[in-house]
Amino acid sequence: MPFLELQNVSKGYGSEISRTDVLHDINLTVERGEFVAIVGYSGAGKTTLISMIAGLLKPDHGTVKLNGAVITEPGPDRALVFQNYSLLPWLSVFENILLAVEQVFPQWPRPKHLAHTEQYMAMVNLSPARNKKPSELSGGMRQRVSVARGLAMDPQVLLMDEPLGALDALTRATLQDEIENIWERDKKTVVLITNDVDEGILLADRIIPLSAGPGATLGPAVTVDLARPRDRKAINHEPRFKEIRNEIITYLLGPGKRSGLPTSVGMKAQKPPVPNLKPVDLDARKFSLFRGGRKNVEAAV
Ligand SMILES: Nc1ncnc2c1ncn2[C@@H]1O[C@H](COP(=O)(O)OP(=O)(O)OP(=O)(O)O)[C@@H](O)[C@H]1O
Ligand SMILES: [Mg+2]
Repeated sequence: MPFLELQNVSKGYGSEISRTDVLHDINLTVERGEFVAIVGYSGAGKTTLISMIAGLLKPDHGTVKLNGAVITEPGPDRALVFQNYSLLPWLSVFENILLAVEQVFPQWPRPKHLAHTEQYMAMVNLSPARNKKPSELSGGMRQRVSVARGLAMDPQVLLMDEPLGALDALTRATLQDEIENIWERDKKTVVLITNDVDEGILLADRIIPLSAGPGATLGPAVTVDLARPRDRKAINHEPRFKEIRNEIITYLLGPGKRSGLPTSVGMKAQKPPVPNLKPVDLDARKFSLFRGGRKNVEAAV
């Protein structure tokens, strides 16, 4: 039985009469301990996809299962590092991480909560900013708090939605290394959403392209069979790295560039119902509002 499984998942937004299928027929299995990266266009539906795995959104069709059980709500077995940080503005860096630790490990004694929080805050180099509120942090610092909080929750599945997108190259590289170290150490199951193909290849066991929407769907997965630990400078020169990158980019610029569906199916747009009314010529004398008043108009309708 696969650890994480998405079967024929579709999801759209909008009302019944003008609904757009953002994601269509998504099938994905992730083994326990596997690191999977999903790479795709902006607006294709990556956040929508990971939100369904997190249990924040329900699919319109199909199922998302973890360990054989259908996911219906968020749970401590899955931590999501959000694309937009989503920190509590009234709490400091330390408190934002601590709160998550307390919620996930209520049985721990206080000193253990504090030490654990301290450890993850230091890991992302935020100890000097421990008392700052999110509004006093740069975007990159907020992102680091968010990553530290996700990792500190020690989930079975770590879901990351473009967690390093807002970071400068150096911090990004440091955190990529941290994420890889943690994955190597704990063998967590990781689903990483990224818009950076190189980042996906550097970190993941498998990289899967998501086609452009509407009706975005997953393309063929490519196994990243490069030895670990991977050196970001060295792998750039490996022919296999170039091959993998080429495969993903060729898909995204080729079959993945177009919607996986004909527009009529992808955009399940239906014409809104039109009331069965005859237009009234308000210029005509006999229907004049001034002469006959409202009654005449209503009679004509
Ligand atoms: N709550 C919502 N209501 C209506 N439409 C939505 C909603 N959330 C997302 N969408 C639409 O669904 C599509 C996919 O959005 P989503 O945020 O999943 O994309 P994404 O791939 O994560 O984009 P990005 O790379 O820019 O973060 C977009 O066209 C977006 O406008
Ligand atoms: Mg997104």
